[in-house]
Amino acid sequence: MTATLRSARILAVITALVAVLACASGLAVAAEGGRVPMPQIPKAQGGQCVASIDDMRRNHMNLLKHERDASVHLGERKAKAQLDDCLTCHAVNGANGKPVTYDDGRHFCRTCHDYAAVSVDCFQCHASVPKAATKSAEGKGARLGNGQDRLQ
Ligand code: HEC
Ligand code: HEC
Ligand code: HEC
Repeated sequence: MTATLRSARILAVITALVAVLACASGLAVAAEGGRVPMPQIPKAQGGQCVASIDDMRRNHMNLLKHERDASVHLGERKAKAQLDDCLTCHAVNGANGKPVTYDDGRHFCRTCHDYAAVSVDCFQCHASVPKAATKSAEGKGARLGNGQDRLQ
């Protein structure tokens, strides 16, 4: 093998390597949301979720509806998964340092729902901020736009 041929081969190997690396970094950028927009899900505070992240991503609606049915229809008042608990760990603070309501696109539950065009009616009755944040001067819940009290 001549010296030129050998260096031509080495050059070919290097070119191929560079191409592979460029491809891989391109993929990494896409996965981080470079080209494909992904929902920006705010980080939770506090301990672990009530189930694994994978399970929660897929099944939180079933869990919530199951608990609602148990509570509303069967009268079980010690629901395992209380909506208020979800909101406590998943509260997102606005500029004023107070948790934002579901009217705000930054609300934890809305980040994905807006992305996936899901609409839920839950917060017409339930407060969308943790109980601690709904306390007003009269000790009532966070109010709806029409002045009605929300469930806490
Ligand atoms: C003790 C705190 C805590 C409670 C209570 C809690 N979570 Fe979580 N949740 C977490 C943590 C921590 C994660 C992992 C992701 C993170 O760190 O933000 C998570 C992840 C999730 C995810 C997946 C988010 C993602 O990044 O894909 C969903 C959906 C979710 N929780 C919904 C709920 C719902 C609904 C409830 C109420 C039934 C709830 N969580 C109660 C702490 C909590
Ligand atoms: C028409 C009003 C209304 C709507 C809409 C509504 N709920 Fe409720 N929900 C209630 C009432 C009333 C209770 C019983 C409250 C109690 O036991 O103190 C309840 C209880 C619950 C409970 C168990 C207790 C708790 O505080 O967490 C869960 C979980 C729940 N609802 C989830 C949901 C979800 C999820 C949605 C939306 C898909 C929803 N609810 C929509 C009125 C409503
Ligand atoms: C990781 C993304 C993500 C987060 C965070 C999230 N959701 Fe969802 N949620 C979805 C998706 C996607 C669907 C639609 C699933 C389907 O249609 O199969 C959905 C559906 C639901 C449904 C059922 C709606 C229906 O029409 O039946 C309820 C109720 C619900 N979510 C409640 C919540 C609440 C409450 C929170 C905040 C505590 C929350 N979700 C946070 C992704 C998310």
